[in-house]
Amino acid sequence: MEENKMPLLSVSNVTKIYNEYKALDDVSFNIGAGITALLGNNGAGKTTLINGIVGLIEVNQGTFLLNEMDNAKESKEFRRHLGFLPQECGYYDEFTALQFLRYMGAVKNVPRKKCDEVIEKYMTRLKLWEHRNKKISKYSGGMKHRLGIIQAMLNEPMLLILDEPTTGLDYVERGIFSDMMREYAKEHIVIISTHIFSDVENIAENVLILDAGKLVCNEKFEKGASIIEKYKKYFEG
Ligand SMILES: Nc1ncnc2c1ncn2[C@@H]1O[C@H](COP(=O)(O)OP(=O)(O)OP(=O)(O)O)[C@@H](O)[C@H]1O
Ligand SMILES: [Mg+2]
Repeated sequence: MEENKMPLLSVSNVTKIYNEYKALDDVSFNIGAGITALLGNNGAGKTTLINGIVGLIEVNQGTFLLNEMDNAKESKEFRRHLGFLPQECGYYDEFTALQFLRYMGAVKNVPRKKCDEVIEKYMTRLKLWEHRNKKISKYSGGMKHRLGIIQAMLNEPMLLILDEPTTGLDYVERGIFSDMMREYAKEHIVIISTHIFSDVENIAENVLILDAGKLVCNEKFEKGASIIEKYKKYFEG
């Protein structure tokens, strides 16, 4: 596959059933490079959808294609192009941040030199470089969260999925995060699931809204608009 081709994620007719309840009900959408906000009330199916895309769960029906790659049939290749920050991310407290990131890079098969370059770039950007040799046990919540974002980006993935990435970030860090994502999304697909609408209003180009497992909104978003004003009806449930 050409590495520099514009990315496209195609989700087709995905259904996931838990005990007869359709957590995802025939969900289909296509998204390309740019930032997509994945929204919906508690229990709407966001995490289920993300878990399906990243291959943590099997769905009952439907497919996830990243360009030509099918996440069920070519999971290894698919994962090579995927970066993921789960809502709850575990760390190795006794590792230093640098050791942790190098370890994650090795797990992801990122060549060492490339990995070190990416680590320095993003640790500098997210103001962690000077803290690289500190043990993670000494990191604050916000610092750990930034480390989680960096581990998701080590392979500079074509598809970057971040579940609640701004939890615990202060005002300044949120700004840095937004700028970084805006830049990264020029050539990559970035999906951000969040309940903090203000964090995506200025950067999202697309909005997906799930409601009780159904995709009820899939449209271009005019940056700077108010999500709650535009989509209030979906959040009043
Ligand atoms: N492993 C599971 N077994 C049974 N039901 C599940 C399981 N995981 C999720 N569900 C159900 O599927 C539905 C969707 O859950 P999901 O976690 O995807 O929602 P969400 O949109 O991520 O919500 P939140 O905003 O609270 O994180 C919910 O009704 C949930 O109870
Ligand atoms: Mg969730």
